[in-house]
Amino acid sequence: MLTVRTAPDLRQAIAPWRQAGERIGFVPTMGALHAGHLSLVRLARGHASRVVASVFVNPAQFGPNEDFNRYPRQPEADAAMLETAGCDLLFLPEVATIYPLGHATFVEPAGAAEGLEGACRPGHFRGVATVVCALFNLVRADVAVFGEKDAQQLAVIRQMVRDLHLPIEIVPGPTVREADGLAMSSRNAYLSPEERRAATVLHRALRAAETAISQGERRGDAVRERLREVLNTEPLARVEYAEVVDAETFQPVETLRGRLVLPLAVRIGGTRLIDNIRLTAEER
Ligand code: PAJ
Repeated sequence: MLTVRTAPDLRQAIAPWRQAGERIGFVPTMGALHAGHLSLVRLARGHASRVVASVFVNPAQFGPNEDFNRYPRQPEADAAMLETAGCDLLFLPEVATIYPLGHATFVEPAGAAEGLEGACRPGHFRGVATVVCALFNLVRADVAVFGEKDAQQLAVIRQMVRDLHLPIEIVPGPTVREADGLAMSSRNAYLSPEERRAATVLHRALRAAETAISQGERRGDAVRERLREVLNTEPLARVEYAEVVDAETFQPVETLRGRLVLPLAVRIGGTRLIDNIRLTAEER
C-alpha cells in the first residue's frame, strides 16, 4: 500500500488505474481506525478493484469547544491496519492541501442536515459536506462507502450527491459493534473503565425501543419515551436527543410507518457518543 500526502501525488498514483479502466472505491475517515472502519474498506473491495482511504481530521467539522485538538492521531498504526484490510492507497493530506490559503467556499447542506446533529453541532455538516465534496473531487472514485453508524451523515452525503449531481455511487456499511453492543468509535478511547461500562446503555435503549416496535408500538412519542426511560437508568448518561425519524428526510415522525432511524446522542461523562438503529415499521 502506498501513502501519498499531496494532490499531485494522489493524481499520479490513481492515473494508471483510471487509464486501465479500473473501478475505484473510496473510504474517507478521520483515522484512529477500528474494525468498523476496516469493514468499510473490505466492503469497498467488493464494489471496486482498487480502494483508496483517506485519513484527515477535518477542522471544519469541529465546533470551537469540541475535541479537534485532542482527537486521537495515529497515522502509522492506521496505515498498517489499512494495508491488512486490503487498501491500495492511503491519502494523508495536510490541512493546507485540503484548504488552500484563502479557502472560502463551503457546501451548505439543509434538509436532512437540519435537526439532531445539525442542531446540536452548528456548522458540523457544513464542514463534513465541504470536506467530502473536496475529497470526492481529489480522488474521483466511482463508489464511496459510508457507515450507518453516522446515519444522519450518510443521509446528508446522499442528499449532496443527488443535489449536486456528483458522479459517484454511495454504498452504506452496517455498524460494527463490540461484543457488549457498544458501537465502535474512535471516541470510545476517551472513556474511563466505568464510563465504558455505562456506555452500553445506548445499545440497550435501542434494543428496548426495537422490541416495543416489534410488539406493535406505533406512536412516536411512546418510542421516544421508551428510549429515554432506559437511558435515564444510567446515572453517568446525559441525553442530548433520543428520536424516531424518517430514514430519508430525518424528520421526526408522529406515527411509525416505513423506513425509520432511531438516532441517539448521549454524553457519558465528558464524551459525546452517538448511535442508531434502522428498522422498517410494517403497517398494522
Ligand atoms: P470517522 O468518524 O473516522 O468515520 C469514517 C467512516 O467510518 C464513516 O463513514 C463512519 O460512519 C464509519 N464508521 C465509524 N464507526 C463505525 C462503526 N462502528 N461501524 C461501521 N462504520 C463506522 O465520519 C467521519 O470520520 C467524517 O465525518 C468524514 C466522513 C471522514 C468526513 O471528515
